[in-house]
This record gives sequence, structure tokens and C-alpha cells, in this order.
Amino acid sequence: VSIAKVEVRLPSLELDRSYRILIDPDEGAEERLADEIHRRAGGARIGLLTDETVAGLHWPRIEGALTQRGLRVATVVVPDGENSKSLGRAELVAQAWAKAGLDRKSIVVALGGGVVGDLGGFVASVFLRGVPYVQVPTTLLAQVDSSVGGKTGVNLPSGKNLVGTFYQPMLVYADLTTLQTLDARDIAAGLAELVKHGAIADAGLFELIEQRVDAARAGDPGFLAQLIARSCAIKAEIVAADERETAIDLPGGGRARLNFGHTVGHAIESASAHTAAPLRHGEAVGLGMLAAARLGAALGLGDRTLEARLTSLCHGLGLPTDLDRWLTAAVLERVTVDKKRAGNRINLILVDRLGSSLVAPVEPQRIGEILLGEKRR
Ligand SMILES: NC(=O)c1ccc[n+]([C@@H]2O[C@H](COP(=O)([O-])OP(=O)(O)OC[C@H]3O[C@@H](n4cnc5c(N)ncnc54)[C@H](O)[C@@H]3O)[C@@H](O)[C@H]2O)c1
Ligand SMILES: [Zn+2]
Repeated sequence: VSIAKVEVRLPSLELDRSYRILIDPDEGAEERLADEIHRRAGGARIGLLTDETVAGLHWPRIEGALTQRGLRVATVVVPDGENSKSLGRAELVAQAWAKAGLDRKSIVVALGGGVVGDLGGFVASVFLRGVPYVQVPTTLLAQVDSSVGGKTGVNLPSGKNLVGTFYQPMLVYADLTTLQTLDARDIAAGLAELVKHGAIADAGLFELIEQRVDAARAGDPGFLAQLIARSCAIKAEIVAADERETAIDLPGGGRARLNFGHTVGHAIESASAHTAAPLRHGEAVGLGMLAAARLGAALGLGDRTLEARLTSLCHGLGLPTDLDRWLTAAVLERVTVDKKRAGNRINLILVDRLGSSLVAPVEPQRIGEILLGEKRR
């Protein structure tokens, strides 16, 4: 037998995948956004993806600014909510884009929250084997978190984000005027991820939020622009060092450190989903950060003052702080099946001092003992 061997060599820098995040707090942002897209589009078609709510609130002026520049825009509207992150919906979106005549030069624009961003990014990454896309995030969570970093995905019946790609956008344009139509709870939920970025990587950001809690909570556009820019810079730096979340050995835990507060947070989020008052993702992450702070202190690895400081900040921001109420056996059971398990341990992200994180592999049982034990005291 003579086995033929063919070497496949891929250039190390296939293409330039760097891109900009523009954060625009002023009125008329749609005009500047449309200029950015127009400049990149040439004569190509634009595929605009949005959901029903955003279509009613923000689509008209953005679509208007695009068509005013002579761009041909095909809009696809999906129903609101997490259910639109499905393979079935992805197929319908791709079909609509094909029908609208989008080609490989077309630019896809995802206008909406994390759901539209994750779905739009996913379909953009596979439609015609990849078309360029622009994220126009319209929730605070999407502006500080989901629009940055290139994770796309849809859910399966057996779990969230189980099908997806790493696919970086060509541009992220945060039009802060879109936040005016969000309710206070959605602002607070987005602020939780900002607090997270401060806690794990930027003490100054954390302190800035502490100093102006009321301005943050009120969604003051100038102040939010400052916070969002700083927060995106942190996430971008973490992602650049570990795009695919494979380098947990990097100082601080690589991209995995962005999961601070999410191990217990996700468990609380899913437990709350079936109650009369489901928590927003960010609200659950706030509680999860309190749990992580408590675990860190009990393990002798984390900042001892963090739980109190986080509790007071979350309280000021209008986030729930009633962690003990959520620490039930059912929630802790969910923690132990968390996907971030390594062998029989869970890689917990802890904050050793404000603005710095570390990874601690902990036995699931120990997490339960500490959290339930502390609760009883
Ligand atoms: N890709 C990532 O790295 C990443 C990171 C974090 C979260 N996510 C994903 O993000 C999703 C959650 O994102 P989300 O919280 O933005 O939810 P979402 O996209 O469902 O938006 C929440 C609700 O707000 C509405 N909405 C959006 N913009 C609005 C506006 N400006 N005014 C009024 N209403 C508006 C939407 O129609 C929706 O009903 C989850 O699916 C999560 O998995 C992804
Ligand atoms: Zn999150």
C-alpha cells in the first residue's frame, strides 16, 4: 500500500478579521451608521434582520437612512424572544435571504438584542459559506456583551447555544438612543455584565459604576457610552487573547473568565424560568456573582470584601440581591451539571482582588456544601 500524502497549508493570516466597535450616544446615529454601511457596501444589497419589537421601534429610521443612500434593503423580521434562536428559524432566515437575492458581497445587518445578534451572526456565518455582517445591538446586554467576541449560535431542545460558530462581524455599531425604549429592568440586567467586566478585569470601571450608581441606573447616555466603551475594550482584549475559549491556563483564565457569576447564575436563571417571575439573564448573573464571591472567600482564594461590595452595588443598580432565597437543592443540582466541568471538577472563576480573576477547579459537592452551609449560618 502506498499512501499518498497531500499537505494542506493554510496561510497563517488568511484575512484581516479586525473590526471596530463604534459607540454613538447622540441623536441621528442612524445617519452615521448608514454612512458606515454605505461605505462598506459598494452597490451590494443589504439584508436587515430584526425582531418584531425592534421592527416597530427602531427599524423605520435605520432602514430609512439606508435606503436614502440608495442601498437596496431586504428586511426579515423574526418573532421576539429566545425561541427564535432555533435551527428552524435559521433555515427560514436563510431562505428569505436567498429569495431576496443576497449574494456573497451582500452585507447582513443584525438589528436587535442578543437573540437577533446570535441568530443573525449564525446564519451570516453559514449562508453562502459566510457573508459579512454588522451588529447593531439594541439592548444594553447586547451592547456590552453579546455583540462583541464573535460567538454566534442557536439552541437545541436539549440546551442553549449548542449549535453555533465563531464568526466575527465587520462592524459593531451601538446606537445608544435605542436604549431609551428599554425598561429599567433591561438596563439593570445589562449593567450586571458591566459590573462583571469591572470585577474580573478593571477595578477602575467597577469603581466608576460605584461612584455614579444613579446615573448608570437611569441610563444616562453620556455615562453609559463611557462605561460601554471601557467594557467592550475589556471584552475585546480578553477575546483577542483566547478567541475560542481554549486557553483556561492563561493568567486570569482566558476567555473563560467571562463566565464569572455564570456557573451559579445560569442555574438560578433556569430555575426561575418556570416560576411566575422569571429572572432576566443579567439579574441571575448578578446573583451568581454574589455566590462566586461567597465561594471565593470560603475557599480562601477570593477577595473577602467582594460579596458585601457587590451586594451594595447590585442593590443600588436595582438588581436582585436575595441570593439565599435561590440557594435550593434544585439549583445546586443544576450547578453540578453545568457545562464548564473539567473531569469531576467545576472550573470556578473567582475574583482574587477587584479587577483580577483566577480559575479554581472545585468539586461540585464542595460548592453545594459551602453555599448551603453559609446559608444556614
Ligand atoms: N454571543 C454572545 O457572546 C452572547 C453573550 C451573552 C448573551 N448572549 C445571548 O443573548 C441573548 C439575550 O440577549 P438580550 O437580553 O438582548 O435579549 P433579546 O434579544 O431577546 O431582547 C430582549 C427583548 O427586548 C426587546 N428589545 C430589543 N431591543 C429593544 C429596544 N431597544 N427597546 C425595547 N425593546 C427592545 C426584544 O425584542 C426582546 O423582546 C441570549 O440568547 C443569550 O444567549 C450571547
Ligand atoms: Zn452573561
